[in-house]
Parts: sequence; structure tokens; C-alpha cells
Amino acid sequence: SGGGGARDAWLRTPLAPSEMITAQSALPEREAQESSTTDEDLAGRRAANGSSERGGAVSTPDYGEKKLPQALIIGVKKGGTRALLEAIRVHPDVRAVGVEPHFFDRNYEKGLEWYRNVMPKTLDGQITMEKTPSYFVTNEAPKRIHSMAKDIKLIVVVRNPVTRAISDYTQTLSKKPEIPTFEVLAFKNRTLGLIDASWSAIRIGIYALHLENWLQYFPLSQILFVSGERLIVDPAGEMAKVQDFLGLKRVVTEKHFYFNKTKGFPCLKKPEDSSAPRCLGKSKGRTHPRIDPDVIHRLRKFYKPFNMMFYQMTGQDFQWEQEEGDK
Ligand code: A3P
Repeated sequence: SGGGGARDAWLRTPLAPSEMITAQSALPEREAQESSTTDEDLAGRRAANGSSERGGAVSTPDYGEKKLPQALIIGVKKGGTRALLEAIRVHPDVRAVGVEPHFFDRNYEKGLEWYRNVMPKTLDGQITMEKTPSYFVTNEAPKRIHSMAKDIKLIVVVRNPVTRAISDYTQTLSKKPEIPTFEVLAFKNRTLGLIDASWSAIRIGIYALHLENWLQYFPLSQILFVSGERLIVDPAGEMAKVQDFLGLKRVVTEKHFYFNKTKGFPCLKKPEDSSAPRCLGKSKGRTHPRIDPDVIHRLRKFYKPFNMMFYQMTGQDFQWEQEEGDK
């Protein structure tokens, strides 16, 4: 995969957070704040990352040039996109923007130079990446991305759409505690059992419909589907697939993860320095409110045909029908 020089540069400057902050300041204030996850993530990451305080000697690697991304994490919201980005950017041959640039949806009129400028500098052989989960459900995104780079690699983290919907609702609830209950929002008519598929928390999980849109522009071989569930129980296994897909050496392995009991999720560590663990911030891995089991049941029935269609389209069975609880 090349990049011996890249690896050395990475070893000299083992951290990415300062770069995330740089990228953030390159973005307009509004985007940085609206980004669904970033601020809290940054805070969590800074707090969790003891080594960033070490002697203040950490500086942003400033080598190479800014390039347009060769790979994108396009979705899905609440699928585990932050966990994936933070894990893949441990790889010395990957450089990624910490914030969500939202270029192909909200900021497209700013132009490709704006977009390129948001990217970190890279050396030859390093892959530039970003993640913006709303791309997956943006109608114009496939066409726009295709017109920038038709050979770009696309990654989608998918998760049981029922759990995803509840996770999405939980996030909204944390910002707007006054919203109606999940049970109320989920139905057009509860007595008739009519699910409100126009509610974004539900619409985003109809993966087959969104994927159809992407397949108008990209062959399936250019899209990798990562299981959000497996990313939690076997992060190294999913990361092996991601690295293979990106044509990278398998550098991020079991050695980089440990299960943090307090957090209840896998966290990252540097294999040679276990004193510097990194868990995601508190907005990742929230406790979900309890949802009426009957509503969960109806949602599962609603999603089932779409899930089947999605398994068929991707040739992968994500086993969402097998699960018992909502988690
Ligand atoms: P919950 O907060 O509902 O549990 P995204 O980053 O796309 O917004 O996804 C957030 C979800 O990532 C979380 O949803 C959580 O379940 C999942 N996740 C996967 N790996 C994780 C990890 N290592 N730490 C925290 N959350 C993780």
C-alpha cells in the first residue's frame, strides 16, 4: 500500500485531534455546530485522550497537499459512522476530516475548491476521507459525487432500521426534550397501524430505496456495507473488511481495540501505548427510552420487506430479523 514515509510522519505525530480542530475552524461556524455529532465527539475525544495534553508537543502534521477524497463514508446517520471514521483514521495511510463537511448536500454551491480546502494534507499513497451520513439519503448526492470522481469508494454503515430510528429519535430528544413520544411520531394513524414513512427517523432506514438511487451511478463493487452491529461486537473484523476494500494493509487490528466496560463499547488504544485509550463522547452509545413493544413489532413488520430487498441488492444478510430486543 506504500507510504513508508507516511507511516514515519504518523509515528512522529501520533494524534489527529488537533487536525480535527483545524478542519473545524476551516468550516463556517454554523456547519460545525449543526454537524450532528462533532462537537460532543471532539469534547469527548479531547477528554478521553490523555496524550493530547502531554507536554503540549503535539502539532498538526503539515506535509503534502490537500486532495479531494478518494473514499467517503456516506451513511447512515446513527449507524456507527463516527466509530468507523475514528477507527479507520488510525491507519497511517488514511487522513480524514473530523467534522462533517456536508458538501454534497448543504454546501455544494461552495464549489470543489472549498471542499478540497476542508481536507487535511496528504502524502502520496495516503487516502483522503470524510464522513457525512446524510449523503446516503440525499437525492442529488450520487450524481454529484459521480461527477467529481466516478471511481470513488463509498462506505455505508448500516444498522437495524428499528434501532436506528430509536437512536435517531433519542438524539433529537436530547436536543429538544419537548417533542412528542416516539410512539406518536411513528404513526400516521395508530389504530390503522399506518406507519409514518415520511418521518425522517423512519424514512432513513428504508435502505433499499436509497440504495437504488446510488446504483444508478455506482456499481455495487464500489460500495462497502459495514454492519453497525458487528462494528460493536467485532470492530477488528469489520475494520479488516474496510481496509481490504480501501486497498490498505491490515494495520488496524484487534490490538487497537479494547472493550471498555464503563462505556459499554469498544474503544481505541494505541497498541504501543495502552495508556492512551480513546472512547467516543457521551453522545455515542446513549441509553434509549423504552418504546412500546407493540410499536417495535409494527415497525419490524414495516421494515421487513425493505430489509429483504436490501439483503438481495447487496448480497449480504444483516440478520436484523433475528434480533430479539431493539438493541
Ligand atoms: P447509540 O447512541 O444509539 O447507541 P453515528 O456515529 O453514526 O451517529 O452512530 C452512533 C452509534 O454508533 C451509537 O448509537 C452506537 O450504538 C454506535 N457505536 C458503534 N461503535 C461504537 C463505539 N465504539 N462507541 C460508541 N458508540 C458506538
